[in-house]
Amino acid sequence: MKDLLKKLAETFGPAGNEAQIRDVIREKVKGFVDEVETDAMGNLIAIRKGHGPRVMVAAHMDEIGVIVTHIDEKGFLRFSNIGGVSPFVLLGQKVIFANGTVGSCGMENLSEMKDLKLNKMFIDIGATDRDSASKKVSIGDIGGLYGEAHFIGDKVIAKSLDNRSGCAVLIKTLENLAERDIHNQIYAVFTVQEEVGLRGAKIAAYRVNPDIGFAVDVTRTGDTPESPAMAVKLGGGPTIKVKDSVVLTHPLVRQFMIDIAEKKDIPYQLEVLERGGTDTGPIHLTREGVPSGAISIPARYIHTPSEMADLNDIENAVKFLVAILESELGDRGTGYLTH
Ligand code: CO
Ligand code: ZN
Repeated sequence: MKDLLKKLAETFGPAGNEAQIRDVIREKVKGFVDEVETDAMGNLIAIRKGHGPRVMVAAHMDEIGVIVTHIDEKGFLRFSNIGGVSPFVLLGQKVIFANGTVGSCGMENLSEMKDLKLNKMFIDIGATDRDSASKKVSIGDIGGLYGEAHFIGDKVIAKSLDNRSGCAVLIKTLENLAERDIHNQIYAVFTVQEEVGLRGAKIAAYRVNPDIGFAVDVTRTGDTPESPAMAVKLGGGPTIKVKDSVVLTHPLVRQFMIDIAEKKDIPYQLEVLERGGTDTGPIHLTREGVPSGAISIPARYIHTPSEMADLNDIENAVKFLVAILESELGDRGTGYLTH
């Protein structure tokens, strides 16, 4: 799990630029499923055939980033955000572009630190003028955070655990299921462009047309000094999402998930995320509606280069997802959800 997490977290893949991470994931999953497809937007869909209900499980593979808006005559890059990027988090950090160009994020001289905004910042790629900068980076190029994953006891610190930890869970789940006979049809979708508005999952869910849907992503915690109250902590187990900004989990899906966690003795926490959403949002609004839930991995410092998660939560999320996908699920409107 550590090697997989490290590889996934360190791979480049800001929203709209998922080719590198998609290639890595395709190589990892192709031995565990019957078919692997890529759709028009770049979602990677790994299919485990069966005769039972169609189950879609989404984990977004994109990450936050920056986009170049202007290159000045001295070769400094001005930029805007791709997804939720704080200037305070970015200051002093390294970013990397798809071609391997690395830059340092600096700021103009400001009298008040609170005035720091992305438009007061620049990326320095070591160029001396616009021409030499333009040989490495163009207007519209997208960069991602750059850094290595580290393991400290049971904890991992890395960029993009949002949501490469979810991708790791989905890959390990497929690996587990490969040795088992299962009734359900599994559509494991590694989605694109979640960080800019849950876009990839929307079209993937239309294509898959699932009977039931799940997302695997990270969620915030309430266990750091003076953090906003939230009943989720690192190491307390994966969470069963009850609500976020884009979904109210179907009560029977929530209960179904609770029943499975209890039966299999998997630690879990109930998650009410006040701000933020996941791929469950677009999935549950597909066509005539799809009962959907989400498993989240508790993470601290989300959308920073130093996100932290607990390996036990990630391992337990795999156990949980395997148990869910192995269980008897009804067809939409006819099975479990009508009990
Ligand atoms: Co995110
Ligand atoms: Zn995410």
